[in-house]
Amino acid sequence: MDLDTPLFIFGLTTGVALTAAVQYFISAWTGAKTQHSKDTTPPRDSVHHPDASPITSPDALPAIRRQSWNVPSFVAAEGTLPRLEREFTVSSHRLQTMVRHLVNEMKKGLAQDGHTLKMIPSYVISRPTGFETGSFFALDLGGSNFRVCLVTLEGQGQTRVRQTKHIVSDELKTGTGEALFDFFAECIGKFLQELGLNPSEPRSLGFTFSFPIEQHAINSGTLMQWNKGFSATGVLKADVVELLNKALKKAHINIKVTALVNDTVGTLISHAYRDPQTYVGVIFGTGTNAAYVERIEEIPKWTGPIPPTKEMVINTEWGAYDEASVLPITSFDRDLDRASTNPRKQIFEKMISGMYLGEIVRHVLLDLISTGELFKGRSSQTLTTPYQFETAYMSRIERDHSLELSDTKAVLEDILGLQATTVQDRRIVKHVCELVGIRAARLSAAGVAAIVTKMNRLDACTVAVDGSVFQHYPHFANRMRDALRELLGIMAENIVLEQARDGSGEGAALIAALHGHE
Ligand code: BGC
Repeated sequence: MDLDTPLFIFGLTTGVALTAAVQYFISAWTGAKTQHSKDTTPPRDSVHHPDASPITSPDALPAIRRQSWNVPSFVAAEGTLPRLEREFTVSSHRLQTMVRHLVNEMKKGLAQDGHTLKMIPSYVISRPTGFETGSFFALDLGGSNFRVCLVTLEGQGQTRVRQTKHIVSDELKTGTGEALFDFFAECIGKFLQELGLNPSEPRSLGFTFSFPIEQHAINSGTLMQWNKGFSATGVLKADVVELLNKALKKAHINIKVTALVNDTVGTLISHAYRDPQTYVGVIFGTGTNAAYVERIEEIPKWTGPIPPTKEMVINTEWGAYDEASVLPITSFDRDLDRASTNPRKQIFEKMISGMYLGEIVRHVLLDLISTGELFKGRSSQTLTTPYQFETAYMSRIERDHSLELSDTKAVLEDILGLQATTVQDRRIVKHVCELVGIRAARLSAAGVAAIVTKMNRLDACTVAVDGSVFQHYPHFANRMRDALRELLGIMAENIVLEQARDGSGEGAALIAALHGHE
């Protein structure tokens, strides 16, 4: 299908080599300050006593050391804070244990269904050459946003995208599935109208649906579980392609879904269009997950035909990882989980993704208030309301390097309604954000290290990463790179983490292009 529609463009550059070189020099520079752990303590089974070292030890994390000018005197004090530091700090040893354990869990998930890591075969069996051309529609439901895109593949790794973005309201997330899919159809209808296209002409599209889907074919799959605050009724165990087709038919739109993909798979494929060394796609956004290219002989549970490429993209659904003897799960994580819409599910996701980081901090702050260590023991209505401390506030606070922490003051007083905070209060809050943010980045790095280890691609691999946390959270990417160096040593230089913006919609279009004739 080739549409000669005038398009607004999101320019895309290839410049991979240049980026890699710049990243190398940045990493080399920050690497000079990297933590060299001397931790030899074995991890314990109890989740309440992680083996993490306090930040005042030689194992102190580099990001904290770099900012030591504003680490307050409480570091040495008695009370809750030293305990928090112990609980949230993840030693190199623990990370290494986690990598080994994750690799094993990946193998189990590839062998059989029913394990913690679902390791879902995506039916995507080929990677793009970069020479594909044509225009394709794509829908992208990630978490809080829904996008309708028209992607034009221009060949030579170049694409043009025209898209509209919509917020998915809480009512839609938690209402009926019918209302949710009708909303998607309505957005598509409006988009076609904007482009001046006749809805009754036959078209095809790629559908990025970023939830755990048991895939039955490239264009069919059933929802295994809602995450990220979604609970729309009538969707669980249903084929989401059928639901979309039904809504499109009702809206008199003649579009056929030719590919159903996870956002991580889309991110991987769209990045591979311009960088053939891309074998992994990761999302650190509202939720988290990773996909990678696996050799078919490494997937014993695959009973379908052997693809000519002898490879398949696997959607790991790593957000579900929950090994309590390995993950540094604190009482705050447990409280958050208990009160969530999906208790005991997505434990790894709840420790590292954008939907939850602010909520963890909120739980910690309430604890410090209850012991009188913060804000003279006084809270505010906003702070006592779940999910009102957004991860975006953590980003602002971590970015605040002013002497008086004035932007932190603005967040705490103007947004959260806390009264007359002191500089000491603000330093404590900032320190809590650092602890939660650093833990998230280090655990994320362990996930990436596990995947490249499983693939045996420590010699060269581009990891395409998308999502608001990776994109906007200060120091996140560098903290991940630091931890990768601790885990992989010199080999970490071969693992290039690259920002892949809005790749999931583009990837769905590409997959529709690659698999459209099946
Ligand atoms: C979902 C994944 C998705 C990830 C990132 C998780 O909650 O289970 O399918 O890839 O979020 O959007």
